[in-house]
Amino acid sequence: MISTVSRPYIDASVPVLKVHGLAITRHFYASLFKAHPELQNLFNMGNQANGTQQQSLAAAVFAYAANIDNAAALAPVIERIVHKHASLGITSSHYPIVGRHLLGAIQTVLGDAATPPLMAAWDEAYWLLAGELIAAEARLYQQAGVQAGEWMTVQVKAVQQESDDVVSYTLQTPQGTSPGAFKPGQYISVVVQLGKLRQLRQYSLSDSPDKATWRISVKREAVTNDTPAGQVSNWLHANIKAGDHLQISPAFGDFTPPLDLATPIVLISAGIGITPMVSILNTLTQRHPTRPVVFIHAARNGQHHALQGDLDAARAVHHRLRVVVCYESPLPTDTLGQTYHHAGRLDLAQALQEADMDGDFYLCGPIGFMQTQWQSLLAAKVHASRIHREVFGPELLNLLPS
Ligand SMILES: Cc1cc2nc3c(=O)[nH]c(=O)nc-3n(C[C@H](O)[C@H](O)[C@H](O)COP(=O)(O)OP(=O)(O)OC[C@H]3O[C@@H](n4cnc5c(N)ncnc54)[C@H](O)[C@@H]3O)c2cc1C
Ligand code: HEM
Repeated sequence: MISTVSRPYIDASVPVLKVHGLAITRHFYASLFKAHPELQNLFNMGNQANGTQQQSLAAAVFAYAANIDNAAALAPVIERIVHKHASLGITSSHYPIVGRHLLGAIQTVLGDAATPPLMAAWDEAYWLLAGELIAAEARLYQQAGVQAGEWMTVQVKAVQQESDDVVSYTLQTPQGTSPGAFKPGQYISVVVQLGKLRQLRQYSLSDSPDKATWRISVKREAVTNDTPAGQVSNWLHANIKAGDHLQISPAFGDFTPPLDLATPIVLISAGIGITPMVSILNTLTQRHPTRPVVFIHAARNGQHHALQGDLDAARAVHHRLRVVVCYESPLPTDTLGQTYHHAGRLDLAQALQEADMDGDFYLCGPIGFMQTQWQSLLAAKVHASRIHREVFGPELLNLLPS
């Protein structure tokens, strides 16, 4: 708990810091990477370039400070951060470095307003949060049986084209065994060396943990008129073949539904957001084939619908599974009623049935898609505590209701 001396300084400065949030994060990253260029190997430089990460770390510190006495509001935020940090191999020795540059950035941006008692209050708040993160990350490393920052080497057993732009990589240890246990919905970090820069990206495991291999399914982020090609996804597609080796983290992530309930589970995804959902579906099919499952997926059309084979296989054996597929712009080769069920954008009111409403809802897809579905579920009187989400990028805390 923050001290009574520091509390008023934090309360008074949170709104001011939020206004200057972007300037503070810019200063923070510039000074951090100048003093520690090696940390560029740890951060996602794609997110640095597109600006999403710049809003995330400082926003979390300010959100924490603003809610410092509201543990219930903070718990899910902290949970997500520590899983992400653990997948990146963040160690306790990184925290003094980040703290120094974050506090330095606050001081620079606030100028004369950054009085010694105000800076002491922020030092206290940073270390309160850092202490919680360090302890939780240590627990995760211990559970995974690894040292912070220890990578596993796996061999790519197979490479499979799943759709126009998605490729699956099946992974096993060099001895031919499973890389280990995981919970469906979790992800790994993949390590890639791009010239001098090492980059890490997270990929959800896309099959059941009961298999003897792990599988990830990677969408190639193509160049567009406005954005450059994604670095790691393109590198993987262009370079990784069966027999190659990859360095990966153990599995982490808190998007892990309890599987052994009797109530319906509703999995709602769009595009590449299908990956954790298929892992959850395949595990349910094997372990809990009597649980009602609704699998709702939105894709552009059949050529952009990855992992269709998994859906067909699950449908053949899971008799309480209902699949609803929605193609925004179906092709002449797509068959209404067979490969897809609705044309146009997903309308949850159309896809859901009365019995589904007692269930838990899991969302994964682009931010705009998740916001729309979130609002539809709330409008259908689903309680927010029964809606769960995975974001394939830095969680932008202000973009989604919590
Ligand atoms: C928990 C989690 C699970 C995930 N699971 C999966 C999964 O199962 N499958 C999957 O395919 N992906 C998944 N992702 C996403 C994945 O981690 C990568 O973000 C994705 O592959 C893109 O990485 P990249 O290196 O190819 O793109 P990056 O190089 O990181 O670029 C990311 C985006 O930023 C844009 N960008 C880059 N530079 C600029 C610039 N200067 N200006 C504007 N825009 C720019 C790029 O065009 C691209 O669209 C997951 C992410 C998370 C966090
Ligand atoms: C109190 C301190 C810290 C806070 C509040 C914090 C907060 C966050 C948040 C909110 C994210 C985004 C999580 C998401 O994906 O949703 C994140 C990611 C990350 N953090 Fe931290 N963090 C802290 C300390 C550190 C430290 C010490 C390091 C080590 C250098 C670090 C490195 C990273 C990296 C590399 C990412 C991934 C960013 C990316 O994708 O580029 N963080 N952190």
